[in-house]
Amino acid sequence: MTRQDIRRQLDDILDTAFHSLTIPDKPASLYDPVRYVMGIGGKRLRPRLLLLSAGLCGGRPERAIPAARAVEMLHNFTLVHDDMMDNAGTRRGMPTVHEKWDEAVAILSGDVLFVLALQQLTLQGGHGNLPDSVNNRLMQRFLEAIRVVCDGQAMDMDFENRDDVALSEYLEMIGAKTAALLRCSMELGAMTAGAGDNVVADCGEIGEHAGLAFQIQDDLLDAVGDTSKFGKRVGGDIIEGKKTWLTIRALEQADDADRLLLRQILGSGNATESDVLRVIRIYHDLGVIDDAVKAIKEHYNNALQKLTLFEESRYREEIKMLLDKLKVRDN
Ligand code: IPE
Ligand code: IPE
Ligand code: MG
Ligand code: MG
Ligand code: MG
Repeated sequence: MTRQDIRRQLDDILDTAFHSLTIPDKPASLYDPVRYVMGIGGKRLRPRLLLLSAGLCGGRPERAIPAARAVEMLHNFTLVHDDMMDNAGTRRGMPTVHEKWDEAVAILSGDVLFVLALQQLTLQGGHGNLPDSVNNRLMQRFLEAIRVVCDGQAMDMDFENRDDVALSEYLEMIGAKTAALLRCSMELGAMTAGAGDNVVADCGEIGEHAGLAFQIQDDLLDAVGDTSKFGKRVGGDIIEGKKTWLTIRALEQADDADRLLLRQILGSGNATESDVLRVIRIYHDLGVIDDAVKAIKEHYNNALQKLTLFEESRYREEIKMLLDKLKVRDN
C-alpha cells in the first residue's frame, strides 16, 4: 500500500466507524444531543492518531476501531462539559449543546457520552480479542487519562482567578487537559497492536508533544483565527479571562501600563469587542504571536523527532504528514 492508500483506508475506517455507531433513540432529551455532537464530527484527530499508532506498531488499524471510537467519544464528552465551563456558544460552527438545549441536558448527555466511551473500550478487549493483561492495561490507561484531563480542566479554571501563572504551570495544565488524551490515543493504538511497554511509551510521547503544540495553537487560533474556519468564537479566551500561552507570555513581556491593562481586561469578565482588539494589538506589539508560532513548531518538531525512533514505514510517513499538516492548521 502507498501512503495515499493508507490515508484513504483510514478515512474509510473512520467514516464507517462513526456512521455505524448506534446510539439509542429514547429518551430523546438524552440521546438527541449525543447524536448531534457525534454527528457534526470534528477533525477526528484522536481516533486517527490511535489507528495510525496501531499501524506504526505493526498492527491492523481496522482492528482498533472500538478504541478509536472510545477516544473520540470521550473527547466529545469533554467538549460538551468544557463548553459549559467556558460559556462557549459555538463549536464546529454550530450552537453548543447547552446553548441549543440547556445546561441540565448538556450535563446528562455529556455523562452518557462518557459511559458510551467506556463501553466502546470494553468492546476492544472483550471476547478474548486481547490478552487479559493487555485489556486491563488498556482500561487503566484510559481511566488514568480521563482523570488527568479532569485535573487539567480544574487547573484551567483555577488559573482564571490568578494573574501570576507561570509558563511552566501553563504547560503542566495543557499537558493534562489536552495532551493527556492525545498521549493516551497513541498509547492505546500501540497496545492494540501488541507493542511492548517501551514502544507504547514512545508512541505516547509523540502524542504528548503533539498535544502541547495542538493546545498552544488552539490558544493562538482563539485570538487570531478566522471564526468561519475555526468554528468557535474568536476572542472567547480573552472574554473568559483564560490564562493561555499568549496571555501568560504577554503578562511576562508587557511594561507596567500594558500589564495593568491586560489584567483589567482579562479580569473584568465582560470584555468588549474593542477590549479584545486591544489585547490582540498588545500581543502583536510584544511579538507574542510570532513567539507562539515558534513554540508550536518546536513542540511539533519534538513529536517528529520522537517519530524517527521508529523504523521507516508508510504509517510513519503518514503520521509525519499529519503532524506537518497540523502545524499549519486553521481549524
Ligand atoms: C478541541 O479539540 C479541544 C482542544 C483540545 C483544543 P479539537 O480541535 O480536536 O476539536 P474537534 O473535535 O476537531 O472539533
Ligand atoms: C480544551 O480546552 C480542553 C478540553 C476540552 C478538555 P479549550 O477550552 O481551549 O478547548 P476549546 O477551545 O473550547 O475547544
Ligand atoms: Mg473551551
Ligand atoms: Mg476549556
Ligand atoms: Mg480553546
